[in-house]
Amino acid sequence: MAGEIGRKTEHWGSRFGFIMASVGSAVGLGNFWRFPYTAGENGGGAFILFYIICVLLIGMPLLMAEYAMGRKSGMSAIEGIQSLARAESRSQNWGIAGWVGSLTSFFILSFYMVISTWLMAFLIQSFGGFEGMDASSSGQNFVDTIGQGEHPMRSRWYMLGLLALFLIANIIVVGRGVKGGIEKVATVLMPAFFIMLLVVVGFSIANGDTAKAVSFIFEPKWEDVGFKTFLAALGQAFFSLSIGVGLMITYGAYLEPDTNIPRSSGLIVASDTLVALIAGFAIFPIVFSAGLDPSSGPSLFFISMPVAFGSIPGGAIMAPVFFGLALFAAFTSSISLMEVAVSWLEERQGVTRLGASIGVGYVLFMIGAAYVFSLDYLDFMDFMTEGLLLPLGGLLASYFAGWVLSREMLTSELGEGTIMNAWRFLIRWFVPPFIFLILVFGFMDKIQDQYHVPLPGFLTMLLGPNWVPPAG
Ligand code: PHE
Repeated sequence: MAGEIGRKTEHWGSRFGFIMASVGSAVGLGNFWRFPYTAGENGGGAFILFYIICVLLIGMPLLMAEYAMGRKSGMSAIEGIQSLARAESRSQNWGIAGWVGSLTSFFILSFYMVISTWLMAFLIQSFGGFEGMDASSSGQNFVDTIGQGEHPMRSRWYMLGLLALFLIANIIVVGRGVKGGIEKVATVLMPAFFIMLLVVVGFSIANGDTAKAVSFIFEPKWEDVGFKTFLAALGQAFFSLSIGVGLMITYGAYLEPDTNIPRSSGLIVASDTLVALIAGFAIFPIVFSAGLDPSSGPSLFFISMPVAFGSIPGGAIMAPVFFGLALFAAFTSSISLMEVAVSWLEERQGVTRLGASIGVGYVLFMIGAAYVFSLDYLDFMDFMTEGLLLPLGGLLASYFAGWVLSREMLTSELGEGTIMNAWRFLIRWFVPPFIFLILVFGFMDKIQDQYHVPLPGFLTMLLGPNWVPPAG
């Protein structure tokens, strides 16, 4: 029976609440901000094709595995995996799979909260409008806003204050528990998010250069495709679906026995992918019509978007909606990231949920205080988590679910029959080898790119052009 070896006593209030909380976790900056430019840069439509393959054949089975393991064990990622290993008389060292994931979620949160803090600052600024801003004044505004400015509302102290506010909001929500906190917030914010997204997309399509946006996002550019593309697609899929970090194991631990895991997973994957595919239409049409580059990373959101809004009639109204919806999406993801650590701590004797949340929030604030102004930290963490740790966590979790756990172990969670057969085939024969290959080649490729290390010739044949030291 589900939960027989478990200790969690709390449950989601309803299936709808569980879905909203999961979609809230999945839909975040990853869909909204990372997906569109990653797609544009990595081969457009070709990337999207790989992405969809990764989501369907790797993401979906892994998501089901995580929920199933969570509900079966009834515990957070680390304890849950250990208890399942015990039940199969296997080594406790499998707990490592949970550890990798949980640490990764913490790293992700450490940069996620910083970007969320910027979003708060920009949301506040957007009420004043961005009228007449050009690319260079917007660039300066971004640098000032993230804490280098003279103005009191562009200063480091101001940013630290916003960071503290953001973390306190997280602590309050996570501290109130899964049903009374996370689920409640998600059932309000996510529907609001969807409505606001449709409004902004409609506005952007009506006022911007939609044709150019379509070709930037969807037109396949096969010449940009390499192993890097696969790694980018896989890392993006993991990040976007919130898998490979033990989070969905934790969410699964709060599932009622009668919730259908395959069906719910399908719904969550579909919503997340849909948002990623349409998010670009909130952004690129007006970015292009303002004559801006589809620049990547932070600058797209925080430099180009203000210029775009400032140059378009109605932009003054749309800008707060845009930054508001991005903040909603980021907040429902950050509370889920915090839940990973909190639910683990809570399983310790004498630790309360609120105490655990305050502790985690405090540590995060200290990290934030040190790194809130460092773009290098964000880049590095982004690279480490997406290029390495997320696929690694997913590899361990899928291997564990497919090869260490017996089929019977998860029958109570996933049922028997065609779905079970397909799932078990994928999670054993497809998911782990595929992740492994992508991880090895993709990581080397990225190293070559990022750190300009020339690789041996035979690898270059596989991975594409080698990096050549500049002459002279
Ligand atoms: N899925 C979230 C996003 O797309 C980020 C996230 C990753 C949240 C991992 C939780 C766990 O922004």
